[in-house]
Amino acid sequence: MKIITVIGARPQFVKAAALSREFAKHSNIREILVHTGQHFDANMSDVFFDEMQIPKPKYNLNINSVSHGAMTGRMLEEIEKVLLAEKPDLLLVYGDTNSTIAGALAAKKLHIKVAHVEAGLRSFNMEMPEEINRILTDRISDYLLCPTQTAIENLINEGYKNTTAVIKNTGDVMQDAACFYAKQSQDKSTIIKQINLNKYILTTLHRADNTDNKQKLTNIVEALNEIHQQICPIVLPLHPRTKKKLQAFNLKLNVTLLDPVGYFDMIELLKNSSLVMTDSGGLQKEAFFFKKNCVTMRQQTEWVELINANVNVLTGANKQKIITEVEQMLIRPSDFTINLYGNGKASKNIINVLLNT
Ligand code: UD1
Repeated sequence: MKIITVIGARPQFVKAAALSREFAKHSNIREILVHTGQHFDANMSDVFFDEMQIPKPKYNLNINSVSHGAMTGRMLEEIEKVLLAEKPDLLLVYGDTNSTIAGALAAKKLHIKVAHVEAGLRSFNMEMPEEINRILTDRISDYLLCPTQTAIENLINEGYKNTTAVIKNTGDVMQDAACFYAKQSQDKSTIIKQINLNKYILTTLHRADNTDNKQKLTNIVEALNEIHQQICPIVLPLHPRTKKKLQAFNLKLNVTLLDPVGYFDMIELLKNSSLVMTDSGGLQKEAFFFKKNCVTMRQQTEWVELINANVNVLTGANKQKIITEVEQMLIRPSDFTINLYGNGKASKNIINVLLNT
């Protein structure tokens, strides 16, 4: 089976690290990676390939830093050329980025089967570009590889039982990555020495829904500055989008800022933190993998099982709510023993589905 996998944004490199390693163990599978170039800075891309030993992409399309329409359109055109040249049996995409929908659409129009890893997730917020990307990708995928039972139920509620798509709960490939790399990160990362803090909240912030709205970003910045000053130090690896928007809106974050960090540093930052604050999807789960409570600065989450398990709360961009929830979550005792995302065998399960259905 010849598979083309399209990746482009940081979280997709983490997911590919887990699944590509597993593909490589199968002599009857040949995987070719296509990097759209959506993320291109060394610390947003190269560091993941180096540390996690992700196979080198055969194609780098180098498409980034343009509007959604231009980005998706150019990716569609270039991926189509790759598919025509390579003639794969299957195209595989991860998650919900512009690279995801571009890959899926290019393949489907050429009658190439599409596998969507992280299918079925919904925030039910159609203002998020990610929600549009994931709904459209699901609709044209032949294999809907769901990370959770909730994702399966979302698809059933949307009528997917009436389609020919294969729908399976495989567990979450990010759990596989966390299990595998957590053993290596301790020896390889020096970030904890560098930041030199006994207690801190690990924070990330990059969601367009927050960063591109001046009022929301102002509220969040004010909340973070107050928490850092009065409650607990905040360590925040700053995403390039957020950096640009802070400058554009003339806002100042008075917390411990870092450049974007690689996966090993991120795992060590997670392991040693007292709490996680984020608007990322992946980090909400990674907080759970490493037994940390999480305050999510969004109105909705795709990972509702974390809310039901009382290890995650939603605050939106409401300054007072963010501060109050941080105070409570810093001391809330939580149960992290439940199995929400599989047992680190998602990659094996996915391959099993692809080879046998
Ligand atoms: C994208 C995904 C989002 C995912 C996130 C992970 C979409 C619609 N969004 O958002 O779902 O959670 O990746 O990080 O696909 N930039 C750099 N250097 C880089 C990467 C980006 O400077 O290496 C800049 C871009 O030029 C752009 C901004 O950051 O100005 C945003 O990048 P973009 O790829 O458009 O989306 P993300 O916000 O990263």
